Amino acid sequence: MNESPVPALICPSCRGTLIDAGHWSATSNAGEVITCPGCRLEIPVRSGIPRFVQSQHLESFGRQWNRFEVAHDDEDRATFQAKTGVPLAELKGLSGLDAGCGGGRYSRVAGEAGAKVWGADHSHAVDKAAALCGVLSEVRFVQADLKRLPFPERSFDFVFSIGVMHHDVDTRAVFDAVAKLVRPGGRYSVWLYRRGTLVRMGGLVGRSANRQPYTQQNREF
Ligand SMILES: C[S@@+](CC[C@H](N)C(=O)[O-])C[C@H]1O[C@@H](n2cnc3c(N)ncnc32)[C@H](O)[C@@H]1O
Ligand SMILES: [Zn+2]
Repeated sequence: MNESPVPALICPSCRGTLIDAGHWSATSNAGEVITCPGCRLEIPVRSGIPRFVQSQHLESFGRQWNRFEVAHDDEDRATFQAKTGVPLAELKGLSGLDAGCGGGRYSRVAGEAGAKVWGADHSHAVDKAAALCGVLSEVRFVQADLKRLPFPERSFDFVFSIGVMHHDVDTRAVFDAVAKLVRPGGRYSVWLYRRGTLVRMGGLVGRSANRQPYTQQNREF
């Protein structure tokens, strides 16, 4: 099978190409700034990760992921396959996006299976993710909002998002924005929870999360 290229970063404002992804990973340094040649937007880079959001209000997710160890190898691989519906054996050589990567456990699973992965999350969890995936040269991260990701439309073979989109107040907008990044004939797997079922257990009435997989595959965009 032909190897897919790694999608290059583009400017979220003017949509111009920022920098070649391969060149980028080789030259990133703490304290660096990427300047868009088209509109002069400046994107800070810290710890080798381009930061497309001002993230003070997102600290709770970041703290949570940075405090706890989140990867459990076999379990993560099994969960990835169950929640995306995609066998790991099919990922080799594909370009993939982990939309809402959190601490990076599923970016790592996809990267270890041979995919070239961009992980994106608006919180500081990307720092945890980058540390977890440090030995995987084909796994990269951006700190960015999923509704405004710095990638060209139709550029990924496989986009997956696990347990993320229902956290945004506008789940539909997130779903649609991320869908645009899937190449025609590519794969888009989204796994969400649906809240709101009342259950009675041991005399207590509680609110439960009814986990509902939503997987959409091979859709033409
Ligand atoms: C429950 S965690 C799941 C993380 C990862 N997919 C996993 O299963 O390990 C949800 C993640 O989605 C991220 N997230 C939620 N809404 C987002 C948005 N609009 N843009 C970027 N990240 C978002 C949060 O920061 C958080 O890291
Ligand atoms: Zn620009």
